[in-house]
Amino acid sequence: MRHNLSEVTDLIRDRRSLSPEKFSERKVHREIVELALTNATWAPTHGMTQPWRFTAFVNEGMQAIGPKLATWYKTAAGEAFSPAKFEKLERRGQRVSALVVIGMVPDAAGRISEQDEMLAVACAVQNMYLTCTAHGIGGFWSTPSMIHLDEVRVFAGLPEDGRVLGFFYMGYPEEGWPKSHRKPLEYVTQWVDQAPV
Ligand SMILES: Cc1cc2nc3c(=O)[nH]c(=O)nc-3n(C[C@H](O)[C@H](O)[C@H](O)COP(=O)(O)O)c2cc1C
Repeated sequence: MRHNLSEVTDLIRDRRSLSPEKFSERKVHREIVELALTNATWAPTHGMTQPWRFTAFVNEGMQAIGPKLATWYKTAAGEAFSPAKFEKLERRGQRVSALVVIGMVPDAAGRISEQDEMLAVACAVQNMYLTCTAHGIGGFWSTPSMIHLDEVRVFAGLPEDGRVLGFFYMGYPEEGWPKSHRKPLEYVTQWVDQAPV
């Protein structure tokens, strides 16, 4: 055994999404965001393309993106616009202390499928989640429709073939650590443990 499997299993199962409305006032330090992002870059990557791109907003930098969340929502929502959601995003922008825009830039040579590039970024996000969990920080990967706005891609500094794959919020829980549940393995697994006859 190269690692303590019981600790690894506990960490994986303890990982939770925590909505920013449940974050406390406690600020997430830049060093923690940096570690989460560095760990993210150790995710598997087909062809070593390392397609993840991050735009990290911390400290006063949050003022650059916070006020934009509600505005982008308004642009993207169209007829589905909800004033309550707009206000929620206005408040969210003011209270979150760390937010990473998750980006993906596909392999320039086109050797690797875009699907694989996105899957690699998803693995990277899981590493961010796990790093957050170890710190007692709740992560929240959010993929609202506004992430598809060209304006958001440009804001995140991504090239034309890049994509915004979500916002990753980080914050300490105001109350206890959330609980969750999963379907038992037998619902999602078929075992094949015999040679075909
Ligand atoms: C690709 C992806 C996108 C997600 N986007 C959203 C989102 O837009 N809004 C949201 O409330 N949760 C989002 N989530 C978080 C899920 O709601 C959350 O993972 C799920 O409820 C299970 O909770 P847990 O992460 O605490 O185990 C997303 C998760 C993934 C993997």
